[in-house]
Amino acid sequence: MWESLLPDEPIPFAPDFVWGVASSAFQAEGGDVPNDWVDQARRGEVPPNPGNGFFERYAEDFRLLAQLGFRHYRLSVEWSRVEPERGRFDPKALDHYRSVCDAANEAGLTPWVNLFHFTHPRWLVARGGLLAASGQGDFLRYAEHTVSALAPHATHWHSQNESMVYVLLGYLTGEFPPEIADGDAAAAMTETVARLHAGTYGIVKAADSRNTVATIEVYIDYHAEDPDDPENVEGVASLDRWYNATLLEGLGSGVLPLPGRDPVEIPGLQGALDVYGLNYYNATRVGPSGIGHWSDQPDPPIDAMGRAVHPAGLEQGLLRVADALPGVPLLVTENGCPTTDEDFRIRYIAAHLWALERARRAGAPVGGWFHWTAVDNYEWKHGYSDARFGLIGFDPTTGERTPRRAAEFLRRVISDGELRPEHLP
Ligand code: BGC
Repeated sequence: MWESLLPDEPIPFAPDFVWGVASSAFQAEGGDVPNDWVDQARRGEVPPNPGNGFFERYAEDFRLLAQLGFRHYRLSVEWSRVEPERGRFDPKALDHYRSVCDAANEAGLTPWVNLFHFTHPRWLVARGGLLAASGQGDFLRYAEHTVSALAPHATHWHSQNESMVYVLLGYLTGEFPPEIADGDAAAAMTETVARLHAGTYGIVKAADSRNTVATIEVYIDYHAEDPDDPENVEGVASLDRWYNATLLEGLGSGVLPLPGRDPVEIPGLQGALDVYGLNYYNATRVGPSGIGHWSDQPDPPIDAMGRAVHPAGLEQGLLRVADALPGVPLLVTENGCPTTDEDFRIRYIAAHLWALERARRAGAPVGGWFHWTAVDNYEWKHGYSDARFGLIGFDPTTGERTPRRAAEFLRRVISDGELRPEHLP
């Protein structure tokens, strides 16, 4: 099961290796905010989200993470808190996020602030979302307000989380709001997310040219179920072109190749990043039996969401980005697993840090890793279930935090400056 995936030699980490933890606003804060996930929960379509207490306990969480050795924290801003009605910005919400950034800095964690992580304000949905004629302008006005309110309390920024997953789930398969399943809309949205990224990059750099902008894109490691079937192989290649290659190409050349459409030049997209952030969880199989999870092992470890563990996909994704965007520094901006078994979590982490190290040795300039996530949170349609991604558990009644064994394992790796195989379960 795990043997071939785990390191058999110590993995060294440079003293400036970026050790971080990633989270998102709605998943951690929850609450009765005017967004589309709250509306869906009211209709009984998704589980409700009371939050994990981060909204009140952020300073305590940061101190705990700093004690574990982390020095970076990725958070997001909930658009519907900051702009609850179109054009009306709530100064209290902006003050709150400023305090969150200050508390992170005080604890010794650099905040990396993401402006968009899957949730839409209710008013935006009513106007037709980001694809409406006013959608891009609405987003950029919100970005402008938020960046000017939080800079220089925050100097590290992301325009969006996994824009291509947002396109895939929200516009092609319709699994996530706005629940559209239409190839044309997905192509239009691909162009839109690229324009929003380029626009946000300009806003962050105009605030201070020394600010850092990092993308956050998941690497989807696609495999054909039947490698002897040319149709299956071509289907997989076209998914891969769309979801993995389109933005990479756009960031490199400024021209976005869109499926079934003429390539579009996006002003400001070329080179609109200081760091490429790559998220990775698992590999995907596509074929006659549909879409599923993939591994090259006969008996791979399976996580609490039924996904096979395949760390080689992380190595491959990092090498691919390094090849497409030479000279751009890389970070793993999310990696972790849903489980209630701490041996599993520790092994998953070690296997992926080993894959990261192999990519680094093969030339990918990867300088850090963010664990998803700090405290267990709302895993979208899974709600609060066994899909627990946290290094830290919490008591739903008292909110009390309890670091898990994987947190202690990472504390040791960070303080030793290396991961030692003999410390693995
Ligand atoms: C998303 C998170 C999610 C995580 C685990 C990522 O793709 O950015 O919001 O919780 O995966 O499924």
